[in-house]
Amino acid sequence: MKSKLLSILTETYPEYISGEKLSNMLNCSRTAVWKHISQLKKEGYEITAVRNKGYLLEHSEVSYSGHGVQAKLFLRYLNYKVMFHAELQSTQQLAQQLAAEGIDEGALILADHQSTGRGRLGREWSTARGTGIAASLILKPDIPIHTASQLTLVAAVSAAKLFRKYGIEAQIKWPNDILVNHKKICGILTEMQADPDRVRALILGIGLNVNETNFPPSLTESAVSMKLLKNKNFDRAEVTAELFNIFEVDYRLFLAESFTALKDEWIKYSATLGRKVQVVHNNQRIQGTAVTIEDSGALKIIDDTGKEHLIYSGDVTEQ
Ligand code: BTN
Repeated sequence: MKSKLLSILTETYPEYISGEKLSNMLNCSRTAVWKHISQLKKEGYEITAVRNKGYLLEHSEVSYSGHGVQAKLFLRYLNYKVMFHAELQSTQQLAQQLAAEGIDEGALILADHQSTGRGRLGREWSTARGTGIAASLILKPDIPIHTASQLTLVAAVSAAKLFRKYGIEAQIKWPNDILVNHKKICGILTEMQADPDRVRALILGIGLNVNETNFPPSLTESAVSMKLLKNKNFDRAEVTAELFNIFEVDYRLFLAESFTALKDEWIKYSATLGRKVQVVHNNQRIQGTAVTIEDSGALKIIDDTGKEHLIYSGDVTEQ
């Protein structure tokens, strides 16, 4: 009920909505509406109530709306269409569904809260209400299937630049983690819908830790947020729009010139190159030094016997 109320308020913004209209839409009494509004206020949402007008969800650091993001997107190249949900199981899941139904490139699914957000390799990704950014962008690039995974690297470059804009020295851990002092601040999950010879849609899922002050126990040692690093709240609408404004430029460069055009930036922000790493690849454990990233996006590792390995997918851990 509370999340439906929040959805209505965010979608109505910047208009007021009357208590009567809300009670009809939510099928509950006006007193129940008022109680839920009070609870949301306690959670930090800034909601103004004006006699004869109704309720308005104000723009604030905790309020986060599709309008707020849409208004800050430049739309230089990608025709972003923001679709905001107060609560979803997973933005990735909805984006997959919309892509299969043929939605246009640029559809950007956002959720304030994901109940079953997913990460790479079947892992979970938690996005608690009112704190982080969970976004899935639908792309329809005309690229060979074997280059599709490079989109993860492109998005990682965009994310690293985003954090640096906020004074956070983020680094990229191949292929999809953004770390600050070895702790994860952002994860990227790229999924594809394809015919045998053609990419139909790529779904770029990005999760950012923004205003979290605590994480589930299993993550406390390994995760960090912008707020924990900078000791202040960030406006999630601004951060989201900033990320996709940066990405738009990088994506265009990638399409025009390939990943090679972004490789130097990737190398500059890399936390992996020059390190002793261990990768499990095709059920084989490879230990060695990560020496470079290829134009293809593969990570080149030289093992302890001097043999070169090109890794196209897998999980890298530092030795
Ligand atoms: C990872 O680090 O394993 C990738 C995490 C990706 C999480 C994002 S949050 C938005 C989108 N929706 C999901 O369910 N997952 C991705």
